[in-house]
Amino acid sequence: MTLTPRQLAFYQEHGYLKLDQLAGAEEVEQARGIYDRLFNNQVGRDNGDSFDLAGTDENGKPARLPQLMNPAHYAPELEAFEFRRVALSIAKQLLGDDAAPGDEHAIFKPAGDGAETPWHQDEAYWDPSLVYDAISIWMPLQAATLENGCMHFIPGSQKLDIVEHQSIGGDVRVHGLETVAPVDTSQEVACPLPPGGCTIHHCRTLHYAGANRSDLPRRAYIMTFRLPPVPRIAPRRFEWLERRQAARQQRAAKA
Ligand code: NI
Repeated sequence: MTLTPRQLAFYQEHGYLKLDQLAGAEEVEQARGIYDRLFNNQVGRDNGDSFDLAGTDENGKPARLPQLMNPAHYAPELEAFEFRRVALSIAKQLLGDDAAPGDEHAIFKPAGDGAETPWHQDEAYWDPSLVYDAISIWMPLQAATLENGCMHFIPGSQKLDIVEHQSIGGDVRVHGLETVAPVDTSQEVACPLPPGGCTIHHCRTLHYAGANRSDLPRRAYIMTFRLPPVPRIAPRRFEWLERRQAARQQRAAKA
């Protein structure tokens, strides 16, 4: 897939891009079956790869926003899917030939009460000692709508520095982050998508996804790509990461 000059310019200016098709219908259906199996079996729970992004994540308590890191570690058949190669080629067009795959995530919003993903910048989750140029490619495995939690962006916010974040609700037991100051949403753009479409955003672009108020699950498959990060010259601290004490970290440390 070759991005047009117009699409490249749109991404540079606004910090996000929307594509109607990344994966074909057959791959979407196969991926959805794998995805549901992984979540039903709670793979990765013991080592911290599977956790609740929006809640306190105690064992035995239903997750408000279940997330699984690197689903292909648990389902290697995903490696062969064509959409991953297309996604890498898109990343190289946006970031340059040195772009390489980073972490992948599956974020599942249960029907009816899947929690919202509050406004944040992805870089706020990462090592503050490094300089990043990175994107996330976010692909729903069914339609993504306003009702079930499609992505929203603030155009041009990729040009901001990292704003102050905190654990969701100010609770340091929660892994997920949100901006401390309310985001000015007067310019926000919602991006509904067909199944297998995608949005692409820079690691500093402010984004949000609504709660799932539909009666079907909302499944998102997210691939990150980045240039090799380099050490920052001016140091910075992400105090929200220093304060955080999520159950996920404890499970990972035990494993
Ligand atoms: Ni994000």
